[in-house]
Amino acid sequence: MKKFFFFSLLFVFTISCFAQTEKLLIPVPSSLIKQSGNYSLHDNILISVSGENKDVENVALQLSKALAAPTGFKISIRKNITTANIKLKLLVVADTNICDEGYKLSVSQKGIIISANKPGGLFYGTQTLLQLLPKAIENKYAGKNIVWNIPCVEIVDRPRFAWRGLMFDVSRHFFGKQEVKDFIDNMVKYKFNLLHLHLTDDEGWRVEIKSLPNLTKVGAWNVKRIGTFGDFSAPTADEPKDFGGFFTQDDIKEIVQYANDRFVNILPEVDIPGHSLAAITSYPELSCTPGAENYRVRSGEKIMDWHQGGFSALVDNTLCPANENVYPFLDKVFTELAQLFPFEYIHIGGDECAKNFWEKSDAIKQLMQKEGLKTMEEVQSYFEKRVEKIVESKGKKVIGWDEILEGGLAPNAAVMSWRGIKGGIEAAKLGHDVVMSPTTFTYLDYMQGDKVIEPPVYATLRLKTAYSFDPVPEGVDAKFIMGGQANLWTEQVYNTRHMQYMLWPRSLAIAECLWSAKEKKNWSDFSKRVESSFERMDIEHVKYARSMFDPIFEVNRNENKELQIILSTEVEGLDIYYSWDNSNPDLYYPKYATPLSVPKDASMIKVITYRDGKPIGKQIDMPIATLKTRLPKK
Ligand code: ACM
Repeated sequence: MKKFFFFSLLFVFTISCFAQTEKLLIPVPSSLIKQSGNYSLHDNILISVSGENKDVENVALQLSKALAAPTGFKISIRKNITTANIKLKLLVVADTNICDEGYKLSVSQKGIIISANKPGGLFYGTQTLLQLLPKAIENKYAGKNIVWNIPCVEIVDRPRFAWRGLMFDVSRHFFGKQEVKDFIDNMVKYKFNLLHLHLTDDEGWRVEIKSLPNLTKVGAWNVKRIGTFGDFSAPTADEPKDFGGFFTQDDIKEIVQYANDRFVNILPEVDIPGHSLAAITSYPELSCTPGAENYRVRSGEKIMDWHQGGFSALVDNTLCPANENVYPFLDKVFTELAQLFPFEYIHIGGDECAKNFWEKSDAIKQLMQKEGLKTMEEVQSYFEKRVEKIVESKGKKVIGWDEILEGGLAPNAAVMSWRGIKGGIEAAKLGHDVVMSPTTFTYLDYMQGDKVIEPPVYATLRLKTAYSFDPVPEGVDAKFIMGGQANLWTEQVYNTRHMQYMLWPRSLAIAECLWSAKEKKNWSDFSKRVESSFERMDIEHVKYARSMFDPIFEVNRNENKELQIILSTEVEGLDIYYSWDNSNPDLYYPKYATPLSVPKDASMIKVITYRDGKPIGKQIDMPIATLKTRLPKK
């Protein structure tokens, strides 16, 4: 009986440890076997690196930096020490189970061994190790009385995709060198390996091009406005244009090195031929439109007219494909960018290029005649093909938003599919490489909860939807899908706290979609691991959205054609309480069970979620009139 009791206890203990361990890791690894017990780190940690390899030494250095401050322990790095606490081993005979970025992590009572085919794999192994440590590992200073236990595990892990990207728009609002480095620090924790910097747009040119000084003397600066971007008043001639900034080439070199040390590639984007008002303002001779010398870098005023089924520009924010000044200009830009950014691709934008000024341009008409171009899409395609040649002459490959397919794709271009997955499918079928970053799953500028409480943006992307992202559509040869990417546009993002709020936790979802095997994904389990990550972000002082705990409103009409309200939540196991009388509900109010009809004369429903008797989501005060506007048209 005693023996049975002992084994039962052991079983319960093992299960709880298993659950505990699994709860921590994002993205979920390919295979994890929990063993009993823990390995504890104490003062005087010895990290051993195998062989002579600078990149492995760098991984050890990064790990020692991550451990040193929160533990306060002395940490040494040595070569080939069999008794080391943490051994980083580059495999001599490649293990085909873990490819280039995969790793094996063994934590036993004897110590920790991370092995991999390549240094990058070792780096990802160390990121997993850090997630297995107590959350105090996120502290900036040594805490007291922390037991640095690591559960004993055997992990074998490898990424599903080689391209695991996050795009950071540093043009709409400028974010500086330190913010980009912090961004990189946070993204690598979840095994992202590509940072796409959206460096140019109508609102600012953010990279120094020495041969074209106006791009940053003029193009990096606009007038500071605060409020709802898009509705601002246009800058006047006499207003100081002192808001913005740019990266010097030295800044870029520092960022690239910083990223490289963390196994992150940086993809620079120069968004052309549309989205180019900052460039045109700097060099008006790149336009085909008279009066461009009076243009100003956009400060968030309306410059495009968006309507059902299309858009047109109110000022000509395009580089003119018929203007021969444009190509030597781009040659200079790409010459310098190619020297600054070692990554094999340069992103040439291509999205949302308004054609209405081109339609009126004599120069464009002549170009069409000369080149036999029949449509404006073919004019853009002519431009993209010339740009591809320039970029390739600098030894780089081209990637662009999916509009570059229209009018004929340049011969070697890769496509970043953002308007859904259609463009990606088309490009893959044409044998081109593709990165999937559809608005429907990966747009981090969208609201993540109900629009009555989220900072307003024109669309919504909930965490659970982001988590259902699969970059490989049915019927497409997976070999053309390099991977996927989430995009953080910053029109409405004015500061770092809000940048973090928009990034997390949806980037956790995308990280798991890009790294973990499809069969390993599980929303219920993931949402619990997200909660553990929140505890770590609290320690790091990283802001995140808790919208997954908020109530979700859906509406329809009941059999009497009256408004019916359906309430739900993204995460499981929450209780929803509501009121109709304008008072703030708590757990002693009616609990939601079935769709609600609105009492006569009620003008507001207030809703809050609880878990285990404690409020967990934000209270939403929802006007009935607002819900009525959401009813499907009769
Ligand atoms: C885009 O979102 N315009 C690429």
